[in-house]
Amino acid sequence: MSNSVSGVMTIEPASRVRGQIRVPGDKSISHRYAILAALADGISTLRGYAPGADCQSTLTCLSKLGVPIRIDRSTEDQLEITVTVDGLGLGGLHQASGKINAGNSGTTMRLLAGVLASHPFDTTITGDGSLCNRPMQRIVDPLEAMGARIETHNGCPPITIHGSSLCGIKYTPVIPSAQVKSAVLLAGLQAKGDTIVQESLATRDHTERALPAFGVETSLNSLGIGIKGGQRLIGKTLQIPGDLSSAAFWAAAAAALPNSDIEIAGVGLNPTRIVFLELLRKFGANVLVKTTGIQAGEPFGIVRVRHAKVKPLVIEPDDVPSVIDELPALAALASHGGDLKVSGARELRRKESDRIAVLVAGLRQFGVLVDERPDGFHINGESPRTGGTVDAKGDHRMAMAFAVTALGATSPSVIKGHNAVEVSYPSFFETLASICE
Ligand code: S3P
Repeated sequence: MSNSVSGVMTIEPASRVRGQIRVPGDKSISHRYAILAALADGISTLRGYAPGADCQSTLTCLSKLGVPIRIDRSTEDQLEITVTVDGLGLGGLHQASGKINAGNSGTTMRLLAGVLASHPFDTTITGDGSLCNRPMQRIVDPLEAMGARIETHNGCPPITIHGSSLCGIKYTPVIPSAQVKSAVLLAGLQAKGDTIVQESLATRDHTERALPAFGVETSLNSLGIGIKGGQRLIGKTLQIPGDLSSAAFWAAAAAALPNSDIEIAGVGLNPTRIVFLELLRKFGANVLVKTTGIQAGEPFGIVRVRHAKVKPLVIEPDDVPSVIDELPALAALASHGGDLKVSGARELRRKESDRIAVLVAGLRQFGVLVDERPDGFHINGESPRTGGTVDAKGDHRMAMAFAVTALGATSPSVIKGHNAVEVSYPSFFETLASICE
């Protein structure tokens, strides 16, 4: 169904998708477990670690900060990656010789900035072309208020963190962001006194769930999420669930194509991430969810999605932070005859690409009617999709979204920059080929 030649991928139309699959380990959880394991006393074993380049960037940065890390990959199953981290203890990171490189990963840069703000040395974190255009002032402001000093290039990377002893703060992020919240909480781990983050809109809470898994006490009340500085972390053995944001593309494909039926096992069902599944139902899809277990506070289970006629859907600004990473998948679903209005999603323009502009340009290549708005878009997917040549602009989620749209086109489509899937889902096109009929 798909074929890669000289940097472009050709996607053939499919009549349906069917199968039982698993998806790579959750990216957000993998970053957090690796970082907390590095700060813990003793050994941590992280099973099902995310295979993509982003979470590898976190490991590479931690290694450069002196953390002994071993990566074991199963020869039979490319999703079975076990990372063993020999923690250096709270405040135990070493100064890196030279810059550290977060690659394409905003989470690596922002969360490590929070950790390094409390280490008494200087660290420069750089990244690739995309990351060096992404906003960092949102972490600089709270971390400087705690006592660190951070240099940026007009608010963008590379950033240089001059770490020092920090004082706890009470902070409300200006833009709802789990990365900002996490950077402040990680800085608070080693700050004097209490740090409290109060969110105006809830964002993914993996940091809050991961901290107690490593033995750290946190509090949650009407004032926000609180952490007392100076608590030691204990190394742990943890299993990472599958990434619902990766599963979202298969769920969208199954919802889009008649007679489709996809079942995804072992996928994370954290309550702050499952708004996507609720929206999929509102869109008309037949969605079954079964929680099969919980580990380190993270529920996981089975998601089964079957096609049903797509209904019009409006995503309101208050829902956006909870589905920010799944909006490309929902847009791809809408391109199969749906009608989707999204507003309050200006943050999409600050991701690995300007996801509003790239999405609108790509969908128009397929012949889909789309209105671009400063803070969102309106997709009318009623007209038939022609095959087209689209450019993912180096953005993993755009490459995957375009592949889902291409399945319903009248002729083959070409995706430029499809290799970007390496960032979160290296085996994406293999799985696509295995489920298309
Ligand atoms: C993430 C938070 C979100 C999300 C990103 C991963 C995280 O970013 O888009 O892919 O792991 O904390 P923001 O915090 O910028 O909203």
